[in-house]
Amino acid sequence: MSAPDTRRVPFVGLDRQYRSVRDELLQAMDEVGNSGGYVLGDRVAAFEMAIATYCGSRFAIGVNSGADALFLSLKHYGIGEGDEVITAPNSFIATAWVIAAAGARPVFADVADDYNIDPDAVARAVTPRTRAIIPVHLTGRPADMDPLMAIARRHGLRVIEDAAQAIGARYHGRRVGSFGDTGCFSLHPLKNLGVYGDGGVITTDDEAAYHSLLKWRNHGLRNRDECEFWGYNSRLDAIQAAFATVKLARLDAWNQRCREIATLYREALRGLVWVPEDAPDTEGVYHNFVIRTPNRDQLMAHMQAQGVDSRIHYPIPLHLQEAAAYLGYHAGDFPVTERQAKEIVSLPIYPELEASEIEQVIDAVRSFF
Ligand SMILES: Cc1ncc(COP(=O)(O)O)c(C=O)c1O
Repeated sequence: MSAPDTRRVPFVGLDRQYRSVRDELLQAMDEVGNSGGYVLGDRVAAFEMAIATYCGSRFAIGVNSGADALFLSLKHYGIGEGDEVITAPNSFIATAWVIAAAGARPVFADVADDYNIDPDAVARAVTPRTRAIIPVHLTGRPADMDPLMAIARRHGLRVIEDAAQAIGARYHGRRVGSFGDTGCFSLHPLKNLGVYGDGGVITTDDEAAYHSLLKWRNHGLRNRDECEFWGYNSRLDAIQAAFATVKLARLDAWNQRCREIATLYREALRGLVWVPEDAPDTEGVYHNFVIRTPNRDQLMAHMQAQGVDSRIHYPIPLHLQEAAAYLGYHAGDFPVTERQAKEIVSLPIYPELEASEIEQVIDAVRSFF
C-alpha cells in the first residue's frame, strides 16, 4: 500500500503543460496582438493548413468547438428534419445533441468491448431514413473504420467522424479524421491538442464541403457583403489558432508519452481489471485510459483515499439522459454500453505525469485487489 501522506495525483494537469510551452505561447499571443487581426486571418489559415497536412486531409476549417464541427458538417450535407443519424450511446453529450440541433433524429447503435461503435449494430440500425453515421473514436482509440465505411458505401450514407478525443490516432496507417466525409476535432483545453478556450476544426477531402463550410462558420457570407445562406458564427479566434499551432509541433511527442503511460498501466494492471489495448494495426492516443471492474465505485473510493483522482467517462449513457426521453429508448436497449457505464473508470493520463505519480496510480489500483 502507498503511504497515506503521498502527494495527490490530479486527474488533469493543464497548468503543467502551460508552463512547458509558456514562452512560445506568450510570443504567439504578442504576435497576434501586434498584428491587429483577431478573428480568422492568416494565423487561422496557417493552422488549418498545418492540421490538414497532419491529418492527411486536403482541407481543414477552423471552427469554434468540436460540437460545431459536427453540427456544421451535418448542416452542410443537408441533414435535418425527417433524417436519422446513427451514433454511439456512450459518447459525450455533444455527439447526440448536434444531431437533434440539426433537426434530425439520433439513432443509437451499441458499442463493442473496446468502447467503440459495433459495425454489426450499425448495420442493423440502418433504415430508409438513415443519412449519416457518426462514429466516435472514443478515449482516443480509433473506431473500426473499414466495416463502417463499407456500410456507408452500401447505403449511400455520409460518415462524419467524431475525432474530438483522438487527434493523431492511426487506423491502418492513416490518421483518424481522414476516412469520413468530414473529421471533427475539438480543441477544448482537455483534449490532446487543447487551446486556452474553445476551439475546433473540421478536416475534409471534399472541396465543395470545404468551400461551403468556410461560409457556414461565417454567417453564410460569400464575401464581406454578400450572404449566400443564413449560416452561423463559429469562427476560430486567431489567438487560439496561434496557440494550437505552437502546440501542434509537440503533439506527436505528447501522444507518444500518453501511449507509453498506457503501456505501463496496461502491463501493471492486466489480469486485475479490463485494460484497453490497441487493436491490430491501430495506434490510439489514449485521451483517456478507461479500465473496467465490477467493483468500480469501491475502487474509486479506494484510489481517492490513496491520493489518486479518477473520473467516469461517462456514467449516464446518452439514450438514458432526460434530454433523450422523447426518443423512446429504455434501460436494457444497449446492454454493452449500460454494463460498461457501471464498470468503467478513467485513470489520470497526460504527458506531464511524473514517474512517481504513474507508480502511485498503479499502486492505488493494485492495492485494492
Ligand atoms: C467525443 C466528443 N465529441 C464532441 C465533443 C465536443 O467538443 P467541444 O467541447 O469542443 O464542443 C467532445 C468534447 O467535449 C467529445 O469528447
